[in-house]
Amino acid sequence: MQGPGCVKWDITYACPLRCEHCCSESGRRLSQQLKLPEMMRVADSLIELRPPVVEFAGGEPLLVKEIFQVAEHIAEAGIPVWLYTSGWLFDEAVLPEIMSVFSEVRISLDGATAKVHDHIRGRVGSFMRAMRALEMLDAAVASSDVEDFSFGVDVAVRRSNFSQLEMFATEISCRFPMLNFLWLGTAFPSGLWNREFFSDSELLDNDQLAKFRAPDFARRLQSLAPDSVSVRFAYPDLSALVDEIDFMMQVEPDGLVRAIPTCEETVGSLLGEPAAVLWGRAMERRKDKFVVDLFSAVDSMTGWAQANRLIDDRYGSSDARDRIARRPVCVQLGN
Ligand SMILES: C[S@@+](CC[C@H](N)C(=O)[O-])C[C@H]1O[C@@H](n2cnc3c(N)ncnc32)[C@H](O)[C@@H]1O
Ligand code: SF4
Repeated sequence: MQGPGCVKWDITYACPLRCEHCCSESGRRLSQQLKLPEMMRVADSLIELRPPVVEFAGGEPLLVKEIFQVAEHIAEAGIPVWLYTSGWLFDEAVLPEIMSVFSEVRISLDGATAKVHDHIRGRVGSFMRAMRALEMLDAAVASSDVEDFSFGVDVAVRRSNFSQLEMFATEISCRFPMLNFLWLGTAFPSGLWNREFFSDSELLDNDQLAKFRAPDFARRLQSLAPDSVSVRFAYPDLSALVDEIDFMMQVEPDGLVRAIPTCEETVGSLLGEPAAVLWGRAMERRKDKFVVDLFSAVDSMTGWAQANRLIDDRYGSSDARDRIARRPVCVQLGN
């Protein structure tokens, strides 16, 4: 059996921000963070699996002081490691370690203006801190001869930032001469965004999705960006969702592996069983008739959210179902 195309490890669920769409529900649940020796065991288990890349996300990975040791361990085994961060905790002190350990760093930016970004991220000042992190990376790359390192802006595309996509390509990309890429990925229904209120009001509708996927649109945004910035698009092929979900292994902070990345069921712990066994079990769930029938019928992002909710109802643990039931229908954002 083929292994995963990538592993995403949410290394903590702690987070200083409160994004309304957070796929991991971070900042609003226990961090589930392991101690260093257990983190190293999870890392060893992932090394055995030999995925093409391990992506560190969360929560806010930079809250985990041991992250550099853990990520370096994986990198030293020849597996590239990437970092997803809001930039909130970026400072000059961590920059050299970030650049020596990670081969790719993505700063999340959900608005091309402070007003939109801070509103989505639930904390005033988050746009400013993301800009500062990008400035620091930009200056550090410009003044060093570091190889095999790239950094970019990562946007979770949704209805309330859809009209700003051109601004990301122009105003944001132009601010950072060393920026390598602008990653535009559709927000997907997972975690807090599986809730009906958000999926129905903020996930791209089919017309927006069609526009987003159109080659002309991609060409236009690329033409607006500086030549040095590669504008990349990521979107689901809803007609082949069953195949698309086979790509990623999603690991929770405590080493539990999810059956399906956008759903809450887990299939066992990397602290207890080999990664290949857990990957095999996750793939079995992904081929389960209930799952395949639901995903095969999906024809919109909101339909995908509904399928995820039904899968969580059926296969989520009672703890996960209780937590899902406690989620507010809609959070009031106010800054
Ligand atoms: C979960 S965050 C963890 C790392 C860090 N806290 C951050 O925000 O960059 C990892 C990435 O997932 C994105 N993300 C969160 N929820 C999402 C969703 N529902 N759909 C698509 N991307 C999402 C974030 O914007 C970020 O780029
Ligand atoms: S998307 Fe990132 S910054 Fe926002 S709440 Fe989730 S983990 Fe925190």
